[in-house]
Amino acid sequence: MTQHISIRRPDDMHLHLRDGAMLQGVLPETTRHFARAIIMPNLVPPVVTLADARAYHARILAALPPHSAFEPLMTLYLTEGTDPADVAAAAASGLVKAVKLYPAGATTNSQSGVKDFAKVAAVLDKMAEIGLPLCLHGEVTDPEVDIFDREAVFIDRVLTPLRARHPGLRMVMEHITTEDGVAYAKSENLVATITTHHLILNRNHLLVGGIRPHYYCLPVAKREKHRLALRAAATSGDTRFFLGTDSAPHIDALKEHACGCAGCFTATNTMPILAQIFEADGALAQLEAFTSLNGAAFYGLPPNTARITLTRHELAQTFPDKILTEAGPVTVFNPGFPLHWRVEP
Ligand code: DOR
Ligand code: ZN
Repeated sequence: MTQHISIRRPDDMHLHLRDGAMLQGVLPETTRHFARAIIMPNLVPPVVTLADARAYHARILAALPPHSAFEPLMTLYLTEGTDPADVAAAAASGLVKAVKLYPAGATTNSQSGVKDFAKVAAVLDKMAEIGLPLCLHGEVTDPEVDIFDREAVFIDRVLTPLRARHPGLRMVMEHITTEDGVAYAKSENLVATITTHHLILNRNHLLVGGIRPHYYCLPVAKREKHRLALRAAATSGDTRFFLGTDSAPHIDALKEHACGCAGCFTATNTMPILAQIFEADGALAQLEAFTSLNGAAFYGLPPNTARITLTRHELAQTFPDKILTEAGPVTVFNPGFPLHWRVEP
């Protein structure tokens, strides 16, 4: 039996679009279904100032497919040299919706990130004053800490002291991967984004039977109990949890490599995957909250008025294995099960 659901057009509250040929190649994969997205600033060099964000915003608009109404929501990359006045001007401009904190060395292009939190205290105070959210890559970089523990240790060592020092600061725990993250995100002034792939993958999917480079991302997928906690949070309808795909394209040559890049490219099939997951968990009625309402409410944006329709087909649907960009081919995330849902054209 064919089944249809109609929801407000979704927003992706954590997205990597890159630049140049890659941007041109991957942007349509997001704009086909999504109305808006929070655009990550980890370019080389990073998007640090309002002027950088304006220039990147213009490049994204120039790369949009014809007649697209997609709105990029810009972020600034927090460095130890970030100027509080520039951040305030960026927020006042309306163009910049958040500041992104990468602990230096945590992930792709994070080398300009923060080592000493005292050096960014004035910026964080200003953000608390004006209500501009801080998006956090929540992993410690201490080489002594096991990679599977880095999120939980970040909560104890970094996030709890940071919240005590800046009590009014609104923060987003990005791409949480643990039951610890789910529990902590219910604290005051906190919310969390959850990716599509972390609702599907545990660490066995990554490592058993051969290493799967296209399932490697950061934070890395954890044990099954953590995946189940994420799944329960995402499908609960709780307003503190919303979609941030962290769709992060890298060309295949850099994924299938002796030292492969981190990132799953999920822009193309995220909505069909989510429909199938929410259906499997008996939570289709909460899909719209997760993809289209909770994130917009957190960022003070009106919910989208345009809608999309998702249809469940009897026959498994096919999606491209790869997106061919001028920068090179990018493999589309394979959920590992047949997909029956499709977004209507
Ligand atoms: O898997 C990831 N890829 N995690 C990140 O934090 C960064 C991202 C990227 O930019 O490739
Ligand atoms: Zn990311």
